[in-house]
Amino acid sequence: MNRPTVGVRSASAAPAGFVADHGALAPRADFPLLAAQPRLHYLDSAATTQKPASVLAAIQRYYETENANPHRGAYALSAVATEAYHAARVRIAKFLGASDAETLIFTRGTTEALNLVASTWGRANVKAGDRIVVTRLEHHANFVPWQELAHAVGAEFVIAELGANGTLDMEAFAAAVTPKTKIVAFGHASNALGTVNPVADIVAIAKRVGALTVCDGAQSAPHMDVGVDSLDVDAYAFSGHKMLGPMGIGGLVMRREILEATQPYQLGGDMIAHVGDQHTTWNVLPHKFEAGTPNVEGPVGLAAACDYLTSLGMERVIAHERTLAALAMEKLAAIPGVSVLGPEIAHRGGVVSFTLKGVHPHDLSQLLDGDGVCVRAGHHCAQPLMRALGVHATTRASFYVYNDGADVVALAESVARAKEKLASD
Ligand code: ALA
Repeated sequence: MNRPTVGVRSASAAPAGFVADHGALAPRADFPLLAAQPRLHYLDSAATTQKPASVLAAIQRYYETENANPHRGAYALSAVATEAYHAARVRIAKFLGASDAETLIFTRGTTEALNLVASTWGRANVKAGDRIVVTRLEHHANFVPWQELAHAVGAEFVIAELGANGTLDMEAFAAAVTPKTKIVAFGHASNALGTVNPVADIVAIAKRVGALTVCDGAQSAPHMDVGVDSLDVDAYAFSGHKMLGPMGIGGLVMRREILEATQPYQLGGDMIAHVGDQHTTWNVLPHKFEAGTPNVEGPVGLAAACDYLTSLGMERVIAHERTLAALAMEKLAAIPGVSVLGPEIAHRGGVVSFTLKGVHPHDLSQLLDGDGVCVRAGHHCAQPLMRALGVHATTRASFYVYNDGADVVALAESVARAKEKLASD
């Protein structure tokens, strides 16, 4: 791709010392797409991440040496595929800090995991007059399934509102969680503002009334040492493609006793133990919740992604993202007309949402694209949040392990250029 020279990775293109001080955590050379496009400033990792060569190689190796339908064949190759699938689950559970790997249910991603909980446990346990509490920060995937469940059973759907700077108002949240509350669903980190929620406080409040706690981890699993067991939530959902893994794989970690007491989500294939003429019994965990031929390449690739992230160190990952996000906030805020939304850096991950006065985020993102800067513009699947912020859309830059100071420089330079261009048009 032939791109203009904005924020190019060379010491001369950026302020002295800037790039050297804020190099990428992961070598760009590890990511074939980024290595092939040295001038691309990929700042949309909250939407999806680029993939390291080790992940691509693991998937290729699986198909070249281990591929068969797992759990089905009596022949050796099927056993090899079964072992590849099983071993990937164990590695991913370990990465997430989930000690019981059989309680990790593979799904297509966070959205399917959350829908699974709403459609199974939710339908069976939430009744008319009960209450479901979500927060104003939620992605539609952790909002609409609960809203629909509430409509279907006649429950009350309550949105806990924000306090200052895009953080949750914890007093309002505590007041919203009444004894009638059956489910508290919340994001660990906001995809739109980057806000990292105080999970321990949220869980403590939900537990006082015995509500099921459902945590959307789509924006936390890729970025921090989550330690799912220590979060003490009942359900945790995540997506592989946002953490260097392939698309179409993610999962749900849920308490064993809840999974065992809950009816399956989909029927057929591996989730069955015995089919009688009139009645069917279900397989043990995790198979009970994994109908049909499983996606094996997904877990195999995702396990390789987990290994890659482990080699970087998750504490370094979040620290790196925060460094770049803080720089971006500072540089963007210095451009007249730019408003950076969301909390101070101590309460956010590597996401920076902003608006430029008088300019639609879609127009801005197209101009940025001309400079090789990839950002997302829109409502970020968080329309209830946008309404509360009083905006239709924002421009969002999101940082990850392969980003560096040159990406931040490119973003800020490109926004400043776009502003000048639009002012002179
Ligand atoms: N949920 C993804 C995002 O925030 C798609 O961009």
